[in-house]
Amino acid sequence: MNAVVVGAYWGDEGKGKIVDLLAAGSDWVVRFNGGDNAGHTIVANGKEVILHVLPAGVIQGKNVAIGPDVFFNPKTFFSDYDSVIKAGFKATGKILIDERAHLIMPYHIALDAGGEASGKLGTTKRGIGPVAEDKASRTEDITIYNLVGGNFKEKIKAVIAAKANELVANKVVERAADLNRYADEIYAEYAKYSEKLKQYVGSCAYELNEALAAGKTMLLEGAQATLLDVVHGTRPYVTSSNCTAGGAAANLGIDLRKFKIIAIAKAYPTRVGEGHFPTELGNYEDAKRERKGEILTAAEKKKAVDGDLKLLGKWIRQDGREFGATTGRPRRTGFPDFVALRYSGMINGVDEWVITKIDVLSGKPFRAAVAYEKDGKKTTRFPFKLEGWKPVYGKKEYFWQQMTGEEMKNAVAKGYDALPQGMKEYVKELVASTGTPVSMISVGPQREMTVVKDVLKRTKAYLQ
Ligand code: IMP
Repeated sequence: MNAVVVGAYWGDEGKGKIVDLLAAGSDWVVRFNGGDNAGHTIVANGKEVILHVLPAGVIQGKNVAIGPDVFFNPKTFFSDYDSVIKAGFKATGKILIDERAHLIMPYHIALDAGGEASGKLGTTKRGIGPVAEDKASRTEDITIYNLVGGNFKEKIKAVIAAKANELVANKVVERAADLNRYADEIYAEYAKYSEKLKQYVGSCAYELNEALAAGKTMLLEGAQATLLDVVHGTRPYVTSSNCTAGGAAANLGIDLRKFKIIAIAKAYPTRVGEGHFPTELGNYEDAKRERKGEILTAAEKKKAVDGDLKLLGKWIRQDGREFGATTGRPRRTGFPDFVALRYSGMINGVDEWVITKIDVLSGKPFRAAVAYEKDGKKTTRFPFKLEGWKPVYGKKEYFWQQMTGEEMKNAVAKGYDALPQGMKEYVKELVASTGTPVSMISVGPQREMTVVKDVLKRTKAYLQ
């Protein structure tokens, strides 16, 4: 099977685990967007590996490719590679990095960290916005082709001269007189990467299309998620790349008709960084003060069950370990949002949902948004600007008792029917509301904690 996997909400849906799972049946695993702003966590053989730019299939020794529209930080690439090897995995497959991919340079990171967007949008400070601006400029961009193509030093000098005003004004360098030295320093660092990277560089468009023509199977791994897409997302609070399934086709130059489209609908949405979040529980300011590992008291849990939504949001954040893999920032948590999911389903042309982290909602009563409301006006569409829109929740409250590890394992073995009734009611309404069935339900971080048996069959039946 060829599949493209994207996130349905604002990222951190647990794509790493699902891509790792699906990778077992794929010859190639390909990253098609974003950069090292992403952090995909995979738990395999009792080891946790966090990858920022290397596709998850690497730990299974698959062929992996980094596409032409990935923003590439060589330092992160090598640290990802080292963490794979250190965790005892062997990267035995081919590694392909597209010559067209844009390089993240030290000044992109400095501009992102110090720039206006960093605070206003809450970026990851990985240089993503500034490198995307340079890509669009077509004259101040530096690609992998430049890095390994021989004229790298001249290219850096030319770009730094062109950016002189910007670099001085933003205090990336103190004075114009320092620019030459700054260019030399960058060259010295990146020339080392150039030697090591040469062996991996090529053309994804050719290699991947040839592989498809030869009957090889492929998994396209999206970073970030639909609502962070630079076109279709909640602008301006988005990233700078195309995160949708259609983006995969455009970015890689492949025919999406050969692919199944799978979107990861985390059981509850989360969001890091700024931006409107209609079903948010509590508020970002309080979430920011929270630390990973804070345990709620029994009294606090009871209050959450009795309707304290701020505490419920905190409980979900702690149980779901909702702290950024890249930045460590606490993630905002919210109630499920069928309005957003319907939109995501439409934008991506989703064939199947995969629901992740549903175990986190065990023991917690919750509702799902079915529409939005503003100034007495109601809509079931996802508005371009979310400002002022409040969620309208469905009448039903979903609830199932806390499940033990044993019960989860039992459900994995027995399949969909063994899941708690309240959970199945939630899944049923998600499916009915979006018109799309579910193929897998993840009930724990490990590869094997995934319910697959009968899931597609039973959820397709909800649509008849
Ligand atoms: P940037 O991609 O670093 O420019 O950040 C832009 C926005 O996208 C910020 O709100 C980030 O928090 C968000 N973002 C970027 N990458 C991810 C991700 O992998 N998961 C979740 N949010 C992300």
